[in-house]
Amino acid sequence: MTSYKELGLVNTKDMFAKAINGGYAVPAYNFNNMEQLQAIIQACVETKSPVILQVSAGARKYANKNLLKNMARGAVEYAHELGYDIPIVLHLDHGNSFELCKDCIDTGFSSVMIDGSSLPYEENIALTKQVCEYAHSRPDYVTVEGELGVLAGVEDEVSAAESHYTKPEEVEDFVSKTGVDSLAISIGTSHGRCKFTPEQCTRSADGILVPPPLAFDVLEAIEKKLPGFPIVLHGSSSIPVEYVKEIEKYGGKVPDSVGIPEEQLRKAAKSAVCKINIDSDGRMAMTAAVRKVLAEQPSEFDPRKYLGPARDELKKMYSHKNIEVLGSAGKA
Ligand code: G3H
Ligand code: 13P
Ligand code: ZN
Repeated sequence: MTSYKELGLVNTKDMFAKAINGGYAVPAYNFNNMEQLQAIIQACVETKSPVILQVSAGARKYANKNLLKNMARGAVEYAHELGYDIPIVLHLDHGNSFELCKDCIDTGFSSVMIDGSSLPYEENIALTKQVCEYAHSRPDYVTVEGELGVLAGVEDEVSAAESHYTKPEEVEDFVSKTGVDSLAISIGTSHGRCKFTPEQCTRSADGILVPPPLAFDVLEAIEKKLPGFPIVLHGSSSIPVEYVKEIEKYGGKVPDSVGIPEEQLRKAAKSAVCKINIDSDGRMAMTAAVRKVLAEQPSEFDPRKYLGPARDELKKMYSHKNIEVLGSAGKA
C-alpha cells in the first residue's frame, strides 16, 4: 500500500472548491511518457497552475504502472526543483472496474474515475458507490469522479457510438446515492480528433469545420440541481487547425479534424466545470512537431532531436491552455 501523500500528491477536494469559487477549471492532462510529463510540469510550474496528471488504463499498459507511479513522484520533485510547488493530483482516467480503481488507490493515486456511464443507471450507481466507499475509507481520502451521460467518440479503450446528454433530473439522485466527489457530464464534447462529423458542422469562409455549440442549457440545469458541486468535462481538446495543417504539410493524414472551440471551454471554465480533460491536443502537438523534424532533417536519428522539439511544443500549448482557456494560471 502506498499513500498518495508519501508521493507528495494531493486529492481534488480543495483544488475543486477553489476552482469553483475562483471561476476557473483545473487542467487534467493525460500522459504516457516522460516528455509529456516534463512538458506538463514545466508549463504548470511556469504558469503557477494546479494540475491533474491523468493516467488511462491504456497508459498503464503502455508505460507500466510502477513506472508511472514513480514518474508522478518524480514530477512532484521536478516541480519543486523548478522553483514552485504546485498542487499535483494523480488521477485514473476512465477506470472501468472496481479492481482497477482499487489497484490505483492502493498504489498511490490520489483520485480515480469510475466510468459506469455505459451501464444501466442502477448498475452505474452500484459500481460507483462501491468505488467511493473504498476510496473514502482510506485514511488519506482518495477522491472519486463518476460519470452520467455518454460521450460520442472513439479512443483506444474508451468508445461510445452515440452521445446522450446527461439528464439533469438524474444528477442529484446519482450524487447522493453514490457519494462521488465530482461528476463528469455529457453536453456535446467527445473524445478524440474528430468530435463531430462534417455533416454536423458548418464551414467557415476558408473551409474550416465549425462545430455545433455545447449544450450550455443542460449544464445550467445541472448546476441548478447541484449548486456548487464539481463538474467535469471530458473530450475537451480544441484540435487546433495549425496542428492539423502542420501534420498534413509533413505527410500526415488527419481529415475531418474538429474540436471544441476555446471560447466555449473558457465559458464552461467560469461555471461549476472545475476539471477539463485534454489528451488529443497533446497528441496533435507532438505529432506535428515530430513530423516536421523528421521531414526537414531526414538523416536525424537521435530521438532527443525530435522528442525535444515535441516537448517544447507541448509545453507552449499547455501554457496557452492554462492562461487563455482554463484560467488556472496563477491559481496554484
Ligand atoms: O479519454 C481517453 C483518453 O484520451 C485516454 O486515451 O485510452 O488511448 O490512453 P487512451
Ligand atoms: P480529448 O480526446 O478531447 O483530448 O479528451 C480527453 C479525455 O477526455 C480524457 O479523459
Ligand atoms: Zn475522457
